[in-house]
Amino acid sequence: MSRLLIAQKTNAALQGEMQPPGDKSISHRIIMLGALAEGITEVRGWLAGEDNVATAEMMLAMGAKIEWLSDDRTSLRITGVGLHGLCEPQTILEAGNSGTCARLMLGILAAQNFHCIMQGDHSLCKRPMLRVISPLRAMGAHIDGCDQGSRLPIAIRGQHLKGMHYDSPVASAQVKSCVLLAGLFAEGKTSVTEPRPTRDHTERMLPLFGQPVAVEGNTITIEPTGSLVAPQDVVDVPSDPSSCCFFAVAASLIPNSCLRMKNIGMNDRRDGWRRILLDMGADISLENERLLGDEPVADIVVRYSPLHGVHVNPADVPDAIDEFPVLFVAASLASGEFVLSGAEELRVKESDRISVMVNALKAVGANVEERPDGVCITGQPTLAGNADIDANGDHRIAMAMAIAAQCAEQAVRISGAETIATSFPMFVSLAKEVGMTIEWSNT
Ligand code: S3P
Repeated sequence: MSRLLIAQKTNAALQGEMQPPGDKSISHRIIMLGALAEGITEVRGWLAGEDNVATAEMMLAMGAKIEWLSDDRTSLRITGVGLHGLCEPQTILEAGNSGTCARLMLGILAAQNFHCIMQGDHSLCKRPMLRVISPLRAMGAHIDGCDQGSRLPIAIRGQHLKGMHYDSPVASAQVKSCVLLAGLFAEGKTSVTEPRPTRDHTERMLPLFGQPVAVEGNTITIEPTGSLVAPQDVVDVPSDPSSCCFFAVAASLIPNSCLRMKNIGMNDRRDGWRRILLDMGADISLENERLLGDEPVADIVVRYSPLHGVHVNPADVPDAIDEFPVLFVAASLASGEFVLSGAEELRVKESDRISVMVNALKAVGANVEERPDGVCITGQPTLAGNADIDANGDHRIAMAMAIAAQCAEQAVRISGAETIATSFPMFVSLAKEVGMTIEWSNT
């Protein structure tokens, strides 16, 4: 049975304190490195979303041991198999909806001494894989798949890889991380230069496992030590800034709101959403700034504040790449013009986030113009709502439109929203707790 997400205007201000779930990017990486390490890695604050569970299941299928230490699966213990200890999986590896799982794991799988096949869901099978397969092939990988190996399903015959320098044409943390992970197994040094800095969780986490990383400007280099060693201390995963952003936008838009969100990742490469909202006039303050392991975190307090449009600096685009759907909602209800350019990468996410968001926002009455590499939005005080939206199975579109509905005159019905469970399984219950009007309905 499919479900509709029905969201509508809140009657009251949003109030409360909450902790969004663990960071999705970090939760993928900790499973990968923990599984490849010697020893036991203990993790707290892990995100048990479907995407991360796909990564965990791949590692389980190749011999790593994962024990859940809490019912909500936020605490776990990974018993690694060592860098060369993975075994051939007896089943097809399922990446589900997750580009990060697929692309980072390809870097690892390309270097194993076995064969395997990776599959994905309908959305992932449409997403470009050549961006990671080309550099892996240049390192010696044998990979083939649909459309000359450019799409899943993909078959990998692991090989001995050679280190190399890769000048990435695309600002993508997944590409960078894939090549660096392959570099762990390769002969000699591996380095990646990216056109613009992207999220650096892989580079931050590798030294925790005893693998040094050199960063010089936009170039990241590893010279493999030949092993990874589990960290002595428990690894704490910060709360996901991308999940926090939905609530930050809602609190900014709904009069008299005040939300406090705890333990939010403040890594500069993930903080673009906050800088853009501050430029738009948001009232966001930080408390309790500190380091959680190798990542900076803070508690964030967001109060209602009238917003105005901005022209987003293209250099900030990678730092807010996952937050644009809900930033478009903020722009639709801000005064003046919001212009985003240089963001064509949005077209190859879980959906084409430029075109799907433009159509969804138009359907609820916003004034939006689609551009090849972004949007131009002229804000207005309210949205009409009363629309049926297809989120195209994209979790961030579904959540962004549920936030838009909180400011619309009439209800918004969102289909294809079940994928919210890939990144933010408790989104609906947390949204209700702080005062949003949102409900699942069986159709
Ligand atoms: C991610 C990198 C980004 C981001 C994705 C997670 C990662 O993708 O959009 O949600 O964890 O490395 P790209 O590398 O395609 O920009």
